[in-house]
Amino acid sequence: MIVVVIGAQWGDEGKGKVVDLLSDRFDIVVRYQGGHNAGHSVHVGGKSFVLRLLPSGIIHEDKICVLGNGMVIDPKAFFEEIEQLEQQGISITSERLKVSSRAHLIMPYHRALDHTSEERLGNEKIGTTLRGIGPAYEDKAGRRGIRVADALWPEVLRRKIERNLEEANRIIVLFGREPLRSNEIFDEVSPLIERMRPFVCETADFLAKAKKEGKRILLEGAQATLLDVDHGTYPYVTSSNPTAGGACVGAGIPPHYITGVLGIVRTYATRVGEGPFPTEMLGEEEHIAHLIRQRGNEYGSVTRRPRRCGWFDAVATRYAANLNGFDSIALTKLDVLDELDEIKVCVGYELNGKRIDHFPASVHELRSVKPIYESLRGWRTSTLGIKRFEDLPKEARDYIEFISTSIGVNVGVISTGPEREQTIIVKDSVVEEWLNHLKTLETAFL
Ligand code: IMP
Repeated sequence: MIVVVIGAQWGDEGKGKVVDLLSDRFDIVVRYQGGHNAGHSVHVGGKSFVLRLLPSGIIHEDKICVLGNGMVIDPKAFFEEIEQLEQQGISITSERLKVSSRAHLIMPYHRALDHTSEERLGNEKIGTTLRGIGPAYEDKAGRRGIRVADALWPEVLRRKIERNLEEANRIIVLFGREPLRSNEIFDEVSPLIERMRPFVCETADFLAKAKKEGKRILLEGAQATLLDVDHGTYPYVTSSNPTAGGACVGAGIPPHYITGVLGIVRTYATRVGEGPFPTEMLGEEEHIAHLIRQRGNEYGSVTRRPRRCGWFDAVATRYAANLNGFDSIALTKLDVLDELDEIKVCVGYELNGKRIDHFPASVHELRSVKPIYESLRGWRTSTLGIKRFEDLPKEARDYIEFISTSIGVNVGVISTGPEREQTIIVKDSVVEEWLNHLKTLETAFL
């Protein structure tokens, strides 16, 4: 069984918790795109873990985690994260962490180029995480990138650094920064790559074999659908493909092996960085954004930037559901809305005086649309930690039904708090079916 988990909005939907919850029943957890720009927070047994580069499954010592070929890996960030987790008592060995030999490396000059690229854009900047993600993917597409397999050959690594840096330094100097030195980069990166060697693996082969052996594989998307470089709010996107198709490419798994796709949808929307956000709470609604930010701890887990907050946007989320073919939805952070009197849902957009129901490709149009809202009554009582759908207040159930109907996908999981057990698995949902199936497999294999 292979399940993909993908954020449906602009990221930070609470994937970390859901993946952590599901990974209990899976053997292998794979990341297939992005790098340490992601920030998954997982709370287990009173401890908090922030994962940037490694899959959330890493917290469970009986799981194998894979960094797929579609990722860009900063070797320094890789070992920093491993060390941090080891300090928190998690043991990470090459037996249970596999890095694709085809993944690309983020080099120090990529970080410098991320800065210069944002500077060049001025007030049209993307608001990137400045981790070098975009420039590393640029090199990949430009066929200059350094893959893990190349870097394992010191002379190849040195040559590629020298060649790429020649170009990178021209831009870096143009922006008044000190040029970087290739021997210093080599001396910094080379020992890290040597340390990485035991983790390196032909991950597509490894996954194909695992699939044949009946292993259960979870593919964990980072960032989210509306940040997809093809389908998101381009150019205000990340440089990879978090969408379901990207999972096949970035992990090296054939599409027909995928059992199902779970979308992570938050009961409201947020966005970090720049870019259009039609339902953003501004002006008179800023106090609601403030309340949500406080209650939902809506600050970037990588950069600590306050996240922009907005109402649930059914147009954007329906678009995401269709793109990814969601079989089910995990609806997160229901409890964050507990104090609201009224909850708005965007059900369409008005563009140049006409109603449209599609998500426009043009950023210019997305900036001009006026959301058409329907208002629902808030429940004004705590839903924190509720474990059964029937125990939710009626208004909360109505809100969930409304979201589900407006995007055309059933809700299989509802998260009512940050802890693992603060969760409702909806009866007779696809997710329950998957979980039961996985349980049956477990008994069959034991
Ligand atoms: P980059 O991925 O650092 O190039 O940033 C591109 C855009 O994606 C920026 O708007 C970032 O704020 C956003 N972004 C990248 N990673 C995440 C994430 O994990 N959650 C939310 N937004 C993200």
